[in-house]
Amino acid sequence: MRIILINGSPREAGCTYTALSEIAETLKAEGIESEIIHASFDKEAINAAAAKILESDGIVIGSPVHYAAASGLATYFMDELFNRVSGKMRLKVGAAVVSCRRGGASAAFDQLNKYFTISEMVVVGSSYWNQVHGNTPDEVRRDEEGMQTMRTLARNIAYVVKSFNAAGLGLPVQEERIKTNFIR
Ligand SMILES: Cc1cc2nc3c(=O)[nH]c(=O)nc-3n(C[C@H](O)[C@H](O)[C@H](O)COP(=O)(O)O)c2cc1C
Repeated sequence: MRIILINGSPREAGCTYTALSEIAETLKAEGIESEIIHASFDKEAINAAAAKILESDGIVIGSPVHYAAASGLATYFMDELFNRVSGKMRLKVGAAVVSCRRGGASAAFDQLNKYFTISEMVVVGSSYWNQVHGNTPDEVRRDEEGMQTMRTLARNIAYVVKSFNAAGLGLPVQEERIKTNFIR
């Protein structure tokens, strides 16, 4: 069982990474493997990430809040990634985590969850919306509620992934897709 964590910040070891690291450590304690990969504008890197994600049980996308939205890097990476994997993510788990100094977290969080809900994924929640606050990793580490929210999220992800694996039900029947474009 394996979860891929994506850091959508241009700062590779910044606040978002700190939140994702807390998730990775808690997943490890729960017996779930994980890997943090850094979002990129490089198409080959996105292809490589897509291959890993298709082999995994789910993903967590982390992004800093930039102007009350996900970062341009996280948005580009998720657009490209889901163009490649969207039809193949059914009932894998998905969660979004955002880091901000002060405001705009829930707008960015809502934005990122939309990749999951259009892809038949299971969105896992926590004890608060998945956000941490700070401008530096140290400030994020001092956001005790935010860090607890990350740990609770990780335990809930582990629980869902283990339950799905234990049940071994396979995927539900899928209807042939109807696509209607509203062109007049
Ligand atoms: C271009 C830019 C825009 C930002 N916009 C916001 C914002 O709208 N709201 C906010 O609270 N913080 C904002 N911030 C601060 C970052 O969201 C915050 O410092 C975050 O924790 C950084 O995460 P990182 O270290 O992973 O990049 C912005 C930072 C940058 C660089």
